Amino acid sequence: MIRSVVRGFGAALPKRVMTNKEMETKVDTSDEWIVQRTGIHQRYIAGEGETTASLGESAARAALARADLTPDDLDLIIVATSTPDNTFPATAVNIQNRLGMRHGAAFDMQAVCSGFVYAVATADAYIRGGLAKRALVIGAETFSRILDWSDRTTCVLFGDGAGAIILEAQKGSGTNADRGVLTAQLRSDGIHGDKLYVDGGPSTTGTVGHLRMEGREVFKHAVGMITDVIEAAFEATGTTADDVDWLVPHQANRRIIDGSAKKLGIPLDKVVVTVDVHGNTSAASIPLALDTAAVDGRIKKGDLVMLEAMGGGFTWGSVLIRW
Ligand code: UT7
Repeated sequence: MIRSVVRGFGAALPKRVMTNKEMETKVDTSDEWIVQRTGIHQRYIAGEGETTASLGESAARAALARADLTPDDLDLIIVATSTPDNTFPATAVNIQNRLGMRHGAAFDMQAVCSGFVYAVATADAYIRGGLAKRALVIGAETFSRILDWSDRTTCVLFGDGAGAIILEAQKGSGTNADRGVLTAQLRSDGIHGDKLYVDGGPSTTGTVGHLRMEGREVFKHAVGMITDVIEAAFEATGTTADDVDWLVPHQANRRIIDGSAKKLGIPLDKVVVTVDVHGNTSAASIPLALDTAAVDGRIKKGDLVMLEAMGGGFTWGSVLIRW
């Protein structure tokens, strides 16, 4: 059977770091409150000339270099983002053009913080279905541009950045020993649409709008939804928490990450945490965390890696990959 195997990975961050101390000068908050409630110490904020497409392009180039490939070797680009450079054309097509790629297909995927999980699942389906041989999957965001910088309940939480992986069709045996995506579990439920949303859009206000969140409401659902899709991934593959080498969660809140790992029985030393330095970068948070842990040597070839995310929609999902 065909498997979608990780051939490369890369990441990019804006130049500018904003610490919690600096945040104290913008809204009525404190380093102590932010660290205690979220685990965030700093985040990166895009500056002039830095956009979702430019960050995505840099992450893509890093992934291509690491995979020893050129854009000619790709035939699909999927960009997970809720902060596109323009309403259209898709940021994926923008990045395709920046890479000088004149063939194949490129499109965006919008599932907010679960976007990267959705995009990996989609690329995997294209590859296993024979529609693509090598897919560049990017999560890229500039949430700083849709934040209400006077709302302390949201502006302290988010940051900007991008990460990418390249998935390649390779023959597998059909067992859990195969490298590549072993299962993807996707869920959504629009009844929760008013708990985390942007209060504008092309078809309603004709504006971009700002992010609004009932944080406590989101928090209430997060751990249960995350553990459900991870347990579904275990069931689909006949694996257990003991088999997982690395849990790479969406980085929204340290308390949600720790609570989910505890409920699943995954020890914290097997959990990749970057929320402290990146903040919540929505669809970029998982590929940024993957890059961090693969570069520093924690995630190695053959490791069993569980990705999970939950966010606006609500959407939520998991992907189990043998790296
Ligand atoms: O990535 C997509 C998914 N998103 C998430 O997973 C986010 C989920 N939610 C959360 O992470 C948490 O709910 C937050 C971090 C957003 C908030 O933490 P919390 O423990 O749920 O706090 P809270 O909203 O219950 O607020 C507690 C208090 C409130 O004051 P009162 O009403 O108790 O007097 C807030 O007004 O903290 C206050 N507060 C702040 N204080 C200082 C809210 N934001 C701030 C702030 N600085 N930035």
